[in-house]
Amino acid sequence: MPQASSPIGVFDSGVGGLSVLRALLAAMPNERFVYLADSAHAPYGERGDSYVAARTHAITHYLREQHDVKAMVVACNTATAAAIHEVRSSHPTLPLVGLEPAIKPALAATKTGHIGVIGTRGTLTSAKFGKLMASLDGQARMVVQPCDGLAHAIERSVALPVPSAAGTPEPMGCSTNAPDLADATETAALCKRYITAMGAFGTAPGQMDTLVLGCTHYIFVAHELRALVGPEVQFIETGEAVARQTQRVLKAAGLLNTVEGPQPPQSANDAPGAPVTVQLLTTGPVDMLAAAAQRWLGLPAGWCQSVQVQ
Ligand code: DGL
Repeated sequence: MPQASSPIGVFDSGVGGLSVLRALLAAMPNERFVYLADSAHAPYGERGDSYVAARTHAITHYLREQHDVKAMVVACNTATAAAIHEVRSSHPTLPLVGLEPAIKPALAATKTGHIGVIGTRGTLTSAKFGKLMASLDGQARMVVQPCDGLAHAIERSVALPVPSAAGTPEPMGCSTNAPDLADATETAALCKRYITAMGAFGTAPGQMDTLVLGCTHYIFVAHELRALVGPEVQFIETGEAVARQTQRVLKAAGLLNTVEGPQPPQSANDAPGAPVTVQLLTTGPVDMLAAAAQRWLGLPAGWCQSVQVQ
């Protein structure tokens, strides 16, 4: 039975959810986290709902059984769209937080009334997203662009060595610093193709002044996107809002950890010797997760472990 000292499970199809983990770590320094990247089965975005729902169920089960998580953050828009309702009904006592493209914050931020939304095909063609769009009732003009292949290209490129000419941190409305990509050729080409297809970005009337990053992987290409849309376009992502919501649900469940300082290991499955604020697990190559976690969150590679989740 999980307690306040138990860890919070966080999962994504791969490395993208690290953007959410970073916000969670910043907001909740007393908590322990188990992050699971399902990289062996990524990308989710073009796989179809039943596949993604099955993976989401398997991972939820695994994190509860093996790590006794007290709550789950589904740090993946695609998995949330495909499975959050079912997971909620299968695990009624588990506090659960999902992600969806941050359309409402974008509506509050736009001045031109023109908003671009990028995400996976799974997310943007889902019934959940359709319902969200229908609820907006024409409050803004939205250009919605599925970016097939982009999450997969990011996933592959993040494990490659970093070139010496490192990029500068992304300073804009997106609250994160973008990591450097090793071989940006493929990701840059895909960004260009999709952003160009969307139409004009900028702050003049009729232009999109706000871009919703509706996939947690896309922060890894914030520099490429910025180069394409210009300096004034606001990027909207969900990490901080998800961290606040996670705090709220834990508090409501009486499961917030109020004990300050590094939390001691709790179970036999904790990484040996780690002080364990965060355990990083992956069903794919450990190097990929280690590179992303090190480059982006400054977490030691030794905190990463390979796991199998059937
Ligand atoms: N990072 C995920 C999301 O937020 C999914 C990317 C993928 O695996 O296609 O939707």
